Amino acid sequence: MRRAACPGSFDPVTNGHIDIIARAATLFDEVVVAVGVNQAKKRLFTPEERIGMLTESCAGFSNVRIDSFDGLLTDFCRQQDVVAIVKGLRAVSDFDYELQMAQMNSSLADIETVFVPTSPEYSFLASSLVKEVAMFGGDVSSLVPDHVLRALTDRLAARRSDV
Ligand code: PNS
Repeated sequence: MRRAACPGSFDPVTNGHIDIIARAATLFDEVVVAVGVNQAKKRLFTPEERIGMLTESCAGFSNVRIDSFDGLLTDFCRQQDVVAIVKGLRAVSDFDYELQMAQMNSSLADIETVFVPTSPEYSFLASSLVKEVAMFGGDVSSLVPDHVLRALTDRLAARRSDV
């Protein structure tokens, strides 16, 4: 059994993430989507909400499961018997930081990082931009699953009514 991890914040999951997870699922026997729950970082969605959205988004993939981790990704990978970390690369600008993380992770544990090129239609896609565009009323319906769009719309409306 060769198990890979697809780590990220997923705040929220986008169609670009799902594309990478789906492709990782064809390369490995099992994929664990690992939601980083760094408590120090302010997120729009709670870890439970992010996990719920991922669970719904990945329901169609029989060899994908969702988990979360707090701390080092390499510790999570060791505990879960993960042999590879799968990361999407959108553009050359992603490469410097991703390479640095891959090399740090490989120095911490016996683990490979596999880079998967993002499909061209998602090359500009990032959760942070989706949130910003949605916050200013832009149309992000082609960038996230319908259930994520609803959660995003509701959360941003609740935020607006708070101020
Ligand atoms: O979606 P993101 O924010 O790019 O995800 C980043 C994440 C969670 C994959 C990364 O920050 C991470 O691995 N955090 C865990 C802490 C850790 O292991 N840090 C050392 C990385 S070399």
